[in-house]
Amino acid sequence: MAIISLINRKGGVGKSTISINLAAGLATHESRKKNSKPVLLIDMDDQLSATITAMGGGFDDKFVPAISAEQNYASALGEGYGASDSLVVDSLIPRKRSEKVKIFRTNKVRMETLETTLKNKDEAAFQLTYFLEPIKNEYSYIIIDNPPSAGLLPTNSLVASTDVLIPIEQDGLSLIGLVDILKMIENIKHSTNPDLNVLGIVPSRFKLVRRQSRDVIKEVERRYGDLLMPYIKDLADISAATTAGYDVFSYCSEKSQAYRCFSNLVDAVLGKLGQD
Ligand SMILES: Nc1ncnc2c1ncn2[C@@H]1O[C@H](COP(=O)(O)OP(=O)(O)OP(=O)(O)O)[C@@H](O)[C@H]1O
Ligand SMILES: [Mg+2]
Repeated sequence: MAIISLINRKGGVGKSTISINLAAGLATHESRKKNSKPVLLIDMDDQLSATITAMGGGFDDKFVPAISAEQNYASALGEGYGASDSLVVDSLIPRKRSEKVKIFRTNKVRMETLETTLKNKDEAAFQLTYFLEPIKNEYSYIIIDNPPSAGLLPTNSLVASTDVLIPIEQDGLSLIGLVDILKMIENIKHSTNPDLNVLGIVPSRFKLVRRQSRDVIKEVERRYGDLLMPYIKDLADISAATTAGYDVFSYCSEKSQAYRCFSNLVDAVLGKLGQD
């Protein structure tokens, strides 16, 4: 069992896209095993991008029941009621497999006030940990998508996680942002979760033709060596799959660059977890 958080305080770097496709890829990997367990995708961002994609995307409103549920995990997390496993439903990803990634029924309004609700609780940073404790072993992998912040919600995620993946874009400031995130992770390791492991840094939306992109990747490799994960190219197929409510493995052909980028990432994650 691994609980993997996707973290970056910067917006639009591919956290939700990687969460969706990593969850779908790990679910596919897991379903080939004999005693397979499901993958759970948790959405800690009130934009609910990961939930909306996993429930069929934005072209129609198939996802609405999953994001407006009366009994939802945002309330359960904030107010401590309800059995957490009764809030779990099947998503639609991976589209081509019967073993679907599980998600929590959620509620957009409750998600928008979750940080404030948690701030008023004792042990505010531990609420997700306590919430997952009774159910986490039912899953092979739990993937947590996070909002673009370094606040209490990502902190809850990092306290509850075994591993972290940091997607970065390759603009001039991304290396400075990376130092901040690694500091935040170090603080959480020292204060609450000493076993938290940085699985890797994922260059996301990578533009091969751009010199600056290649330079940033070289610099990440120089500074952080082994933490550099396979890059995800910036490809129209990837955003089209997300918009249509598909994972890349179901939307794109096996020979496509999008499919290969995410396969490489899933393989690297499994390798680093010692589960390939
Ligand atoms: N590899 C990629 N190639 C092309 N488009 C991408 C890629 N990754 C993400 N995108 C697109 O970029 C936008 C932002 O991606 P995404 O929502 O995954 O980022 P995020 O880090 O989760 O953003 P936020 O911080 O707002 O939650 C989306 O429209 C998505 O479809
Ligand atoms: Mg997101």
